[in-house]
Order: sequence, then structure tokens, then C-alpha cells
Amino acid sequence: MKTLNIGMIGYGFMGRTHSNAYSNVNHFFDLQYQPVLKAICARNEERATAFANQWGYESVETDWRKLIERDDIDAIDICTPNNLHRDIAIAAAEAGKMILCEKPLARSVAEGEEMCQAIEKAGVPNTVWYNYRRVPAVTLAKQLVDEGRLGRVFHYRANFLQDWTISTDLPQGGEALWRLDVEAAGSGVTGDLLAHCIDTAIWINGPITSVTAMTETFVKERTHNLTGKVEKVGIDDACAFLARFANGSLAIFESTRYARGHKALYTFEINGEKASLAWDLHDLHRLQVFDHGDDSLIRGWHNVHVSDGDQPYMDKWWVPGLQIGYEHSFIHQVADFLKSLESGTPCGPTFRDAQATQIVCEAVLNSAKSGQWVNI
Ligand SMILES: NC(=O)c1ccc[n+]([C@@H]2O[C@H](COP(=O)([O-])OP(=O)(O)OC[C@H]3O[C@@H](n4cnc5c(N)ncnc54)[C@H](O)[C@@H]3O)[C@@H](O)[C@H]2O)c1
Repeated sequence: MKTLNIGMIGYGFMGRTHSNAYSNVNHFFDLQYQPVLKAICARNEERATAFANQWGYESVETDWRKLIERDDIDAIDICTPNNLHRDIAIAAAEAGKMILCEKPLARSVAEGEEMCQAIEKAGVPNTVWYNYRRVPAVTLAKQLVDEGRLGRVFHYRANFLQDWTISTDLPQGGEALWRLDVEAAGSGVTGDLLAHCIDTAIWINGPITSVTAMTETFVKERTHNLTGKVEKVGIDDACAFLARFANGSLAIFESTRYARGHKALYTFEINGEKASLAWDLHDLHRLQVFDHGDDSLIRGWHNVHVSDGDQPYMDKWWVPGLQIGYEHSFIHQVADFLKSLESGTPCGPTFRDAQATQIVCEAVLNSAKSGQWVNI
């Protein structure tokens, strides 16, 4: 068994999901590599040490540049707010480290391109954590489309709805709330939530060729956590866009943090000539399938409980009928990354794949500003 020493930067929400994945992957997947929780890096030493103790990290760093300089680190895992992705990724690539970077790849296409060029020049293994690709029901949807079971695709429809920023008292900036600060996040729901929908859509249904969008910032000013002053809000609170795919299908995407009652409602539906598929994150282990080829007496939407050993990733888990959850998508991505090191093949989405999503996000924001269709 070869070891892969992980240096993780940021111990927030994603720091926990990734640490859980590294800790558990070898219990369930037969792999030649074993991740080792070598070092956790965050600015606050006391809190980083508490995290290291809780999760079993061997050491703590408070400066990510020092972490990257260490010879005993093989892979850098970027779990920081978006404004740090570029500098960390480029420094890590130049130091010859493998990189696992959280999504969105960057705040802009320009930043993303610099990152892609740095990792391509260094030739280091890399992946971006668009983890929903590895929810078994979503992977199954991709498999069914690739097998041609839907035939020609006419429509792709996706939503990602939340309601946690409705209060005008919520500040911008700081832990988790950096998402409301355009300087830290790059954009609002477009880069944070729609990026997931776009990554899944491109993966399943192919390239997007043009978009037309509208965005809105419902709360125009919020106190900034770092300055204490009331400052203009620069992010998009809500975004809806229409898109055309290269395969001729039409799409509609919507995301907001102002849909009262919805916490993380990521849904998509695909309508083809022969069949349709639908998926809902709140019921993530199920795929709804309508097959027009079914006998008309029993034709209807099938509610497929994705838990059988024949279905993606499920032979690694319990027994048919027992489902898995959100955290497993990250375990699957680590397993696939480690397998990619064995085979020498890329682990998608690579930085370059994630840059395709970045390009669509930027086109969406540009279209919302100009009121025009934007070609990609
Ligand atoms: N794949 C997904 O579904 C998913 C979900 C949530 C977040 N994300 C992405 O993950 C990233 C992190 O988001 P989060 O929700 O974990 O944020 P978070 O606010 O919970 O955690 C961010 C962490 O970064 C650390 N940090 C900030 N500045 C730092 C610095 N200069 N040096 C070292 N550490 C620093 C903070 O201390 C904190 O531990 C973002 O890019 C976000 O878009 C992805």
C-alpha cells in the first residue's frame, strides 16, 4: 500500500466532508493508495489544533505557503473560500503537488485559465470537487443517457433553491458568510450553486453553446463582517437562465437563496424522445425514470431506489435496499482520484473540465448585465 500525504487548507464545511472521505475510503474500496491526514492548515492555530485532534491530523500549519513548501506533503486539498483558490493552486502546482480543489474552480474565467495553465505545465494530477457527479443516482442518470436510453434529448431543467439569506440583518464576509462578499466569492448563486447544476448538465448532456440570463440582488447593502461598515452587496442573490446545448436541446436553470422553505433543493429533469429522468437532492438515493417503451398498461414514472450492487458505486456499500447519503459522494471522489493515480488517467472533473463550467458561469453573468444572449 502506497501512502498519499494530504495537506488540507481550511477546516470548515468542506474540510469536514473531505476529512471524512480520506478517513473512510480504504475501508470500502480496494485501492493501492492510502490517504494519510498529514497536516491541516488554517489561520487560527488553536482552532486548527482542535480540528486536528478531532479528525486525526498529524500536524498543524497556520500559513498555507509553509504547508506547500513541506516535502512530506504529496497532495494539497483546497477547502478555502474562492478568493484563495488561484494563489494556492498555482503555488501548489509550481511545487509539484497534486491538487484537489473545491468548486467553483475560481472567481473568474481569467483566474481559472491561469490555474489550468499552471497545473498543465506542472503535469500534476488534479480534480475539482463537483461531488454531485458521484451521487450514485446521478452517475446512473449519466449512464442511462450514455447508453442512449433517452434517445434524442429535448429538454434539461435544473434548480438549486435555498432560503438562508433572506434576513437583511445577515452580514457579508467572514466564515461561511464570505459567500455574500463578492470579493471572496466572485459571484453569488451563479458560482456557488448553479456551478453544480452546470457541471452536472455538461457532464450528462454535453457542451452548452449559448445562454441568456437575469439576476437580482434583493438586499442591496449589508454590514461587512471585516470592516464593520454597511457596504454594497455585489453578489447575485438569484439567477435564472435559458441555455442551448450543442446537441440541440433547450435548458432552463434557476437558483436563489430567497425561496422560502427550500434549504438545498437541487433538482434536475431530462426529457428525451424515448424516456425522461428526474433527480432530487432531498431524495438523493432515488432516480425517477419514465420509459415510453414500457408496456402501456404499466407505463409510468418508476421510482428507482439506487441501492443495488449493479448500480454505480453500490457494490462497495451495504446490501440491496440500504441506501447511502451525501457524504458518500466525497468518498467516491477520493476513491476515483486514488484509482486515477494507479491507472495514470485523469480524474474528472479536472481543472480543465471545471473551467468549462467557469466559462458558462461568466457568460451567464455577462448576459444578465447586457440583457443579450451570449455565445460560448
Ligand atoms: N462541493 C460542494 O458541494 C461544496 C459545498 C460547500 C462549499 N464548497 C466550496 O468549498 C470551499 C470552502 O467552503 P466551506 O463551505 O467549507 O467554507 P467555510 O467557511 O465553512 O470554511 C472555509 C475555511 O477556510 C479557512 N480559511 C479562510 N482563509 C484562510 C487562509 N487564508 N488560510 C487558511 N485557511 C483559510 C477558514 O478558516 C475555514 O476553515 C468554497 O470554495 C466553496 O465554494 C463546495
